[in-house]
Amino acid sequence: MIYTKILGTGRYVPKTIVTNEDLKQYVDTSDEWIYSRTGIKERHVSIDESSLDLSYQAAINAIDKANIDKDEIDLIIVATVTSDYAFPGVSNLLQAKLGIENIMAFDINAACSGFIYAMQIADKMIKSKSFKKALIIGVEILSRLTDWRDRNTCVLFGDGAGAMVIGESETNQIKDIITGSQGDVDMLLYCKNPELKSLKHNKISVQDHIHMQGNEVFKFASRIMPKTINQLIERNNITMDDIQYIVAHQANARIIQKAAKELNVSMDKMYVNINHYGNTSAASVPVAIDEAIEKGYINRGDLFATVAFGGGLTWGGALIQY
Ligand code: ACO
Repeated sequence: MIYTKILGTGRYVPKTIVTNEDLKQYVDTSDEWIYSRTGIKERHVSIDESSLDLSYQAAINAIDKANIDKDEIDLIIVATVTSDYAFPGVSNLLQAKLGIENIMAFDINAACSGFIYAMQIADKMIKSKSFKKALIIGVEILSRLTDWRDRNTCVLFGDGAGAMVIGESETNQIKDIITGSQGDVDMLLYCKNPELKSLKHNKISVQDHIHMQGNEVFKFASRIMPKTINQLIERNNITMDDIQYIVAHQANARIIQKAAKELNVSMDKMYVNINHYGNTSAASVPVAIDEAIEKGYINRGDLFATVAFGGGLTWGGALIQY
């Protein structure tokens, strides 16, 4: 029987920091409003780095920590809604930048749940014995899809990349992964692609921005995250006490607090770094896992859960022994 485990994690965020105070020059807002409603104090914004650049730095960091040769990687999956090109994917360009030849590499889009989707795909592909070591990335430059005149959304997002190398294992460490989707027919959370020009309507392309019904998304998130954790607990015949730590998607500190309350766990068990990064979409989970490991909240042998929700509407959760 082939099992899987985490070999290493990494992260990278662009250097430029935009504080809540800085945002006052773009929209009518305040540090008090943003912090009390979301827990965000500042976010990192990419001025001239691409999704590929952020991914590359995070990948190098994860490969170093996994202590493997990059050529051992035979699969790259990048989760993103902000690929630099429609094609080639960030994954394909990353493969070239890392100098890895003749492997499978592709991008996926499941918004903020994308990293957990990528983890599930890679996990299953390794368990099928087709691949041995996968590099999975969550990367996002949402600052380029953000309408900086819309205070309802522009205060929420940030840019960054997180990476993880997972590989074959003799012990069962990536124990379970759940993913789900519920087609967002009410368009609670969406962003159009840049307008594609048809032969008949040869218009100039315009880039649309993120649109969101915040209250409805908040309700969905507060319901789906605890539900997913409870499903993982039931499916694996464990109790909440067996889970040492929870790393949730960082969309809003109040959503994480509501999830903790619903799950009847202390906030000491929940990782929170949204104050420094804002919502980095697909990058949020891997960046938070990497930080939680670095800070000693998750140690080798610990059982932890991760959970996310996002546009789609999508969700996902995983139960992992580090
Ligand atoms: N500064 C000041 N006032 C603001 C701001 C701001 N930045 N943004 C909104 N307001 C105002 C609103 O205009 C509204 O004013 P009104 O009552 O006069 O109309 C008031 O504040 C209250 O707005 P609400 O929407 O009720 O505020 P709420 O407490 O729900 O918080 C928030 C809004 C933070 C957006 C919350 O609903 C939320 O976090 N939702 C989930 C968002 C999320 O997770 N999205 C996932 C995105 S993932 C992706 O896009 C890839």
